[in-house]
Amino acid sequence: MKRVLSGIQPSGQLHIGNYAGAIRQFVDMQANHEMFVFVASYHALTSTRDADELRRNTRQVVTDYLAFGLDPATHPNTHIYLQQDVPQVTELAWMLSCVCPKHLMDKATSYKDKVARGLPASVGLYTYPILQAADILSVDPDLVPVGKDQVQHCEITRDLAQKFNNAYGEVFKLPEYKLRGDAEVLPGIDGQKMSKSYGNDIDPFMDEKPLRKRIMKIKTDSTPVDEPKDPEACTVFQIFRALAGRDDPRTAELAERYRKPGMGYGDAKQALYELILDHFADARKRRTELMNDPGYVDKVLKDGAAAAQAKVAEVTQRARLAVGL
Ligand code: ADP
Ligand code: TRP
Repeated sequence: MKRVLSGIQPSGQLHIGNYAGAIRQFVDMQANHEMFVFVASYHALTSTRDADELRRNTRQVVTDYLAFGLDPATHPNTHIYLQQDVPQVTELAWMLSCVCPKHLMDKATSYKDKVARGLPASVGLYTYPILQAADILSVDPDLVPVGKDQVQHCEITRDLAQKFNNAYGEVFKLPEYKLRGDAEVLPGIDGQKMSKSYGNDIDPFMDEKPLRKRIMKIKTDSTPVDEPKDPEACTVFQIFRALAGRDDPRTAELAERYRKPGMGYGDAKQALYELILDHFADARKRRTELMNDPGYVDKVLKDGAAAAQAKVAEVTQRARLAVGL
């Protein structure tokens, strides 16, 4: 059984972009992979300075993983854990940083993007990809499912593993990254990449009324109702297609309505609203149940930590021996 590792930062409420780009893949893979899925809480220190907020967001990501369908109860090979429960990743990150040429970090685009968005230009943010490489390499995964924006980090991971192995022998396994077959970057309500930090995201767990209001706010052009419209150019359609699937008859049907005169963008938004309620009906129900059962979430984390700790300890020991510690 192939091993998979991935994680998400607890830097705010998860949104349908995270779901479509990352979490849906995790859920699909758990039937026939060993899954290590964690919450990247150390990484979130690059952006969050409020301890209570970090604790709350961390817990929320775990609850949302479970609500979206990761299920250690029916898939004993699915392990969900917190990054701070395997603190050896910071030790591995240090070892990797000592074989990492500085120019490799200078090339990384996410640092520049995040600083441009207003995040503090800290050394932690600068070396963020090294910690990510340590997360990945710490469990010897075969595959790392991520959204498109994480590809560079996965390439840096392979590069660092290779450099370490060249110096010290075969310590780290080089993992492959995996994008969803139909991977796209999901746009937010303003048409830019949907992101927690852009304030343009759609939270699938919102109450119905505010959710509908949010969807009605999606930016569209001003083509009048009685003129045909181009579905490809419309954010509402792009989100619809990402959730329903390219080959789903509902997607073809909505595209058809765009191309004929008579459909207003309000109608398309209503169709998206209904799709979201339908698509996330189980997740919404499960999330409410999980919020009322904190003991279960604690148990998931305890079991996940035990599984991750066993694997990470083995890899860390291998690296320590190789470097002479
Ligand atoms: P955000 O930009 O909201 O802070 P993260 O950077 O924490 O999101 O991303 C977590 C995961 O979700 C990553 O694997 C990322 O590729 C995926 N992801 C985030 N936003 C999108 C999006 N708009 N479309 C597709 N995937 C996304
Ligand atoms: N950088 C990832 C993000 O912003 C989060 C992350 C940290 C991660 N470590 C990882 C993703 C390891 C995959 C594998 O979403």
